Amino acid sequence: MDFEDFPVENAHRILTPRPTVIVTTVDEEGNINAAPFSFTMPVSINPPIVAFASAPGHHTAGNIEKTHEFVMNITPAAILDKMWITAESMPAGQNELEAAGLTWIPSEKVKPPRIVEAAGHLECELLRISEIGDHNLITGCVVSASVPSGCMKDGLLDVEAVKPVLHVGGKEFVIGDHVRRVD
Ligand SMILES: Cc1cc2nc3c(=O)[nH]c(=O)nc-3n(C[C@H](O)[C@H](O)[C@H](O)COP(=O)(O)O)c2cc1C
Repeated sequence: MDFEDFPVENAHRILTPRPTVIVTTVDEEGNINAAPFSFTMPVSINPPIVAFASAPGHHTAGNIEKTHEFVMNITPAAILDKMWITAESMPAGQNELEAAGLTWIPSEKVKPPRIVEAAGHLECELLRISEIGDHNLITGCVVSASVPSGCMKDGLLDVEAVKPVLHVGGKEFVIGDHVRRVD
């Protein structure tokens, strides 16, 4: 087998496809902000802690620094195009959900809202923001979680029903719509 050298600064392009969430936050006035993130991961099961990495300067990171809360909304294939619109750079205070034609409901425990069309919601309270390389790693304790009915099967996400969006890079995505089981 032949191998080619690969530029280390593009390591993230091999570590794919990555689950893509739309993170909702609010600013100090309560204005809603939303943006997609694919540098995402669970960090701890008990207590439940999740993380994502944000480039500095994003409104998402700024809002979390000030208000200490965020919601990770799981992106199903049905809203791929709308998710893409939420990535557009908009002025601070402008609600990307509105621009994308997405709708929202209040969360159970935090101020940022849940996206109605999402396949799951992780409501988080900020644990820590750690400057790591050229991103900030934002960790949050999950204080409430919800899924639309019909999205779970035997305790796992029903990917055949949800078809979660996974980011390959740039404008390319994988739709995770089938399961292969190991016997
Ligand atoms: C599929 C997708 C995944 C993205 N993942 C990340 C990410 O993990 N970290 C990041 O800093 N930006 C990521 N971005 C870019 C931000 O979503 C984008 O810059 C957005 O405008 C930031 O919005 P905000 O300033 O309202 O927070 C991603 C964009 C897309 C389309």
